[in-house]
Amino acid sequence: MRQPLIAGNWKMNGSKVMTAELLTAIKAGLGDIEASEVAVCPPFPYLHIAEEMLSGTPIRYGSQDCSREEDGAFTGQVSATMLKDFGCTYAIVGHSERRLFNAETDAVIARKYQMVTAHGLTPILCVGETLEEREQGKTEEVVARHLDAVLELPGGVAELAKGVIAYEPVWAIGTGVTATPEQAQEVHAFLRQRVAKKDPEVAAELRILYGGSMKPGNALELMAQADIDGGLIGGAALKAADFLAICKAGDANA
Ligand code: PGA
Repeated sequence: MRQPLIAGNWKMNGSKVMTAELLTAIKAGLGDIEASEVAVCPPFPYLHIAEEMLSGTPIRYGSQDCSREEDGAFTGQVSATMLKDFGCTYAIVGHSERRLFNAETDAVIARKYQMVTAHGLTPILCVGETLEEREQGKTEEVVARHLDAVLELPGGVAELAKGVIAYEPVWAIGTGVTATPEQAQEVHAFLRQRVAKKDPEVAAELRILYGGSMKPGNALELMAQADIDGGLIGGAALKAADFLAICKAGDANA
């Protein structure tokens, strides 16, 4: 039984005031959420607000990235130890915006994944193809490469089992264009089968979220798919009512 996870990826949005207001509203609406696990990933400077406001509540929080290094002379980076220090549960790794704007390779992302698990945090590994790759029929090849970067770590499938996967077709992120439930399910099933070849039990328990313009109007149908276990929510996570409605949709499919 996989518990749905609805995680908000706030990206580079917000302020101290906005963070406090949004978290207050999410907390206030949480009473209606029964089965879904709820998490938010604000920008680094606001993690302390999440710590102050969410400690002792069931709402988890995490970061949008993590350094692949332990500590030392890495200007501007934030380590897994620091995230742990602020009570984070999750760290997103390999988001397509980091692959694109920060030139992160599969090898770098796999190291980040390892660093996150080594510190007892749960990585949310993003995988997904661009529109061009989809049109060239390369979707499976691309997501397999993203997944294999972690499967090929020394810990193998046991290492992968410590995290959560998010299938995020790049063409659906922030565009308002959502993958159809069938398109998403096809890729989710492919990912799960690929893991099952290594270990069927890990595959059966692995949570695979969908991300890319998930909103209240399509969340129910997406999460009704057999292999979609929640969502990584960008734009809609910035509005408490929308985010809570998606959490409700997660409940309906729990
Ligand atoms: P979106 O972003 O919901 O705004 O498309 C999702 C993500 O990038 O994680």
